[in-house]
Amino acid sequence: MGTGDSTTDLMTAIYEDRLGGLDDPVAARACTAIGHRVAEEVELAKAVLAERDLAATVEGEPAAPAQRHWARLTFQNQAAAEVAIDALTDAGYRPWDAVHGPAGVVRRRLRGVATLARNSDVTMVLEIGWPPDPPPILDRLPEAAVPTDNDFDVVSLPEALWPLYYVVRPFRLLAERVGLLDAGARRLGPFLSTPHDVLPTLHDLADLTADDVLVDLGCGDGHVLIHAATTRGCRGIGVERDPDLVAAARAEVKEHGLSDRIEIHQGDATSGSLPAGTVYFIFVPAEAACNLAARVLRNAGSGTRVLVHEQHPLPKPPPGAESQAVISGQGVTVAHLWSVP
Ligand SMILES: C[S@@+](CC[C@H](N)C(=O)[O-])C[C@H]1O[C@@H](n2cnc3c(N)ncnc32)[C@H](O)[C@@H]1O
Repeated sequence: MGTGDSTTDLMTAIYEDRLGGLDDPVAARACTAIGHRVAEEVELAKAVLAERDLAATVEGEPAAPAQRHWARLTFQNQAAAEVAIDALTDAGYRPWDAVHGPAGVVRRRLRGVATLARNSDVTMVLEIGWPPDPPPILDRLPEAAVPTDNDFDVVSLPEALWPLYYVVRPFRLLAERVGLLDAGARRLGPFLSTPHDVLPTLHDLADLTADDVLVDLGCGDGHVLIHAATTRGCRGIGVERDPDLVAAARAEVKEHGLSDRIEIHQGDATSGSLPAGTVYFIFVPAEAACNLAARVLRNAGSGTRVLVHEQHPLPKPPPGAESQAVISGQGVTVAHLWSVP
């Protein structure tokens, strides 16, 4: 973990994605380990691509210190990228973008990027890029006019009507401005695993004991709850929207013999009633984390702790958080803890 006075510097460096360049031994060790891991993953991806006669340009220096398990592979065109996506999916990567179906096809064409991820003790994210291919007339529009995930969320159009997404965008922005729409509010992001290495520190920060009920809002495969129940003896409740992840989490819980201590609920963590717990764990995109933490704190009884962690600054955190950098093994994050008196 980051120490004493340097914790603010560490937090700022994490937010600015420059932890690897810092003169701090703990940060240097973690970033070197992450850099090596990313290089290994890229080598693996290249070998998978070579089997399909594909080559990609890789962004960044091989094995250079890094704080994110992330790499970008760029291809000549979308056709090559699509073959690469298939090959990497066969090799264990999963599509990570929030927009699927016909809207997903259009999104990829217009933005020239698709994201894949593979979960193990950490999540490795591969960004697959290619020169985007908007028709010439749209080519001249500013970047701000190009539809984003929130536009694709509002309406799902047949593929042939894709130019209408450019029309949807200004209306969507206007509706958000006047408060008629809260696009993306229910999206807590895709499954990105909290690195195992930081779990003991995060659980220490929340002072998690056998008397606690830990609630993980957006619990993915349930590994945070399983780790907590195994090492701290607490009970756990997970809320997860994705039915495949709910099934995976329930299977893991059973496999670990923890069915009497951990429940996994399928549902939307942003609406309806919250499960009763003493510690709430939140690892979702920064904007959504603020809303979710505020929601929990509005309903929390005395003694409740709310723990959020993220590598990005929280745009509007509820007041009263204690924040600190957490760096351990291959895990880098910033934790925020609210304790209800
Ligand atoms: C970043 S992952 C965190 C997984 C796990 N808590 C961890 O820390 O390893 C966020 C999770 O929230 C889930 N999710 C997204 N929107 C949700 C919603 N509205 N309600 C419940 N879960 C949601 C995603 O499927 C994903 O598994």
